[in-house]
Amino acid sequence: MGIRILGTGSYLPEKVVTNDDIAKSLDTTDEWIFSHTGIHSRHVAGEGESTSTMAAEAARRAMDAAGTKPEEIGLIVVATSTPDYNPFPSTACIVQGLLGCDNAGAFDLQAACAGFVYALEQARGFVNFYPEKKALVIGAESLTRILDWTDRSSCILFGDGAGAVVLGNDEAPGVASSKTTAHTILGADGKGAHFISRTGGCRNALPFNEMGIPAKSEPEKPELVLMGHDVFAFAVRTLSKVARDLCEKLGTTPETLDRVFAHQANGRIIEAVARRMKLPLSKFWLNLETTANTSAASIPISLDQAVRAGELKPGMNIVMVGFGAGLTYAGTYCTWPNL
Ligand code: UT7
Repeated sequence: MGIRILGTGSYLPEKVVTNDDIAKSLDTTDEWIFSHTGIHSRHVAGEGESTSTMAAEAARRAMDAAGTKPEEIGLIVVATSTPDYNPFPSTACIVQGLLGCDNAGAFDLQAACAGFVYALEQARGFVNFYPEKKALVIGAESLTRILDWTDRSSCILFGDGAGAVVLGNDEAPGVASSKTTAHTILGADGKGAHFISRTGGCRNALPFNEMGIPAKSEPEKPELVLMGHDVFAFAVRTLSKVARDLCEKLGTTPETLDRVFAHQANGRIIEAVARRMKLPLSKFWLNLETTANTSAASIPISLDQAVRAGELKPGMNIVMVGFGAGLTYAGTYCTWPNL
């Protein structure tokens, strides 16, 4: 009863790039990458694929699993940092068109790797007030398209893919929220904005012409800037704190968790979080050996894999928790599949 995840889906591109493949053109090795990150390979969007096509395929699979028709969807939220167009039209609108969800409003949400949990919370509010409608929440990324493939300290970390869930509500408007077992924390630390950033954008003053309007200028070549050590420390500290705070808020302890779906950026981050939470690593869903860091797609891909493997079952207490550029962080505690 109440607000529930009705179905999950995910999509990983067919093309796979291994560490050995990268090592052919970069001064790195499979041994270094795996021992420092836990990553062996990543999926890479191929020709004809983009964030919107991967998002739409993950969404189709989630709607199939939920038994939901396109016309039942009232809202599509796509969490992404790698939209098809920058900044408009939104990827969510393109997905809406691809899926034929003619009754849905659509928008993108940018909270980097924490984006899926942020998006889920927006959609939770939507179905709470419009229980007759369903929402599609999607995390989708084509990060391999924005990397500097000559920078060995960052390009090895990321991969492409998409994950989606369909959210529904069978209660009267506003009722479900009072019955829910779920609790969410959304947070940010803008003082760390420079820890992970991408150059380009609109912040720089352009030269002005004699009429006092900005003269057209070529956009600068975007680069990914990653302060790895600072991000690592923030991630370990924040993921474990958010997960513990969520448990405390609900009057429970981390030991009662059946599974943790933490954003997967580096296997060593997850190991450190498990140690801090005094939980066995086996409670954490791990797939980054073959997916690498898929940013906003990482948590929904993991949810879908766990559901399809029979490892995420109704009644299980779980935490989804992410962190990312911004800096952002977000976590939700719920008893699957209720939100
Ligand atoms: O979604 C959020 C996104 N980002 C993250 O979560 C990143 C979090 N941070 C990390 O995952 C790690 O800090 C990295 C994987 C980025 C780096 O690992 P590290 O253990 O902190 O390595 P390091 O930066 O301390 O580098 C150690 C050495 C350096 O060489 P020197 O200066 O000691 O000679 C690097 O140049 O390793 C070198 N190095 C590499 N060597 C081979 C850095 N990248 C590579 C590489 N292959 N790919």
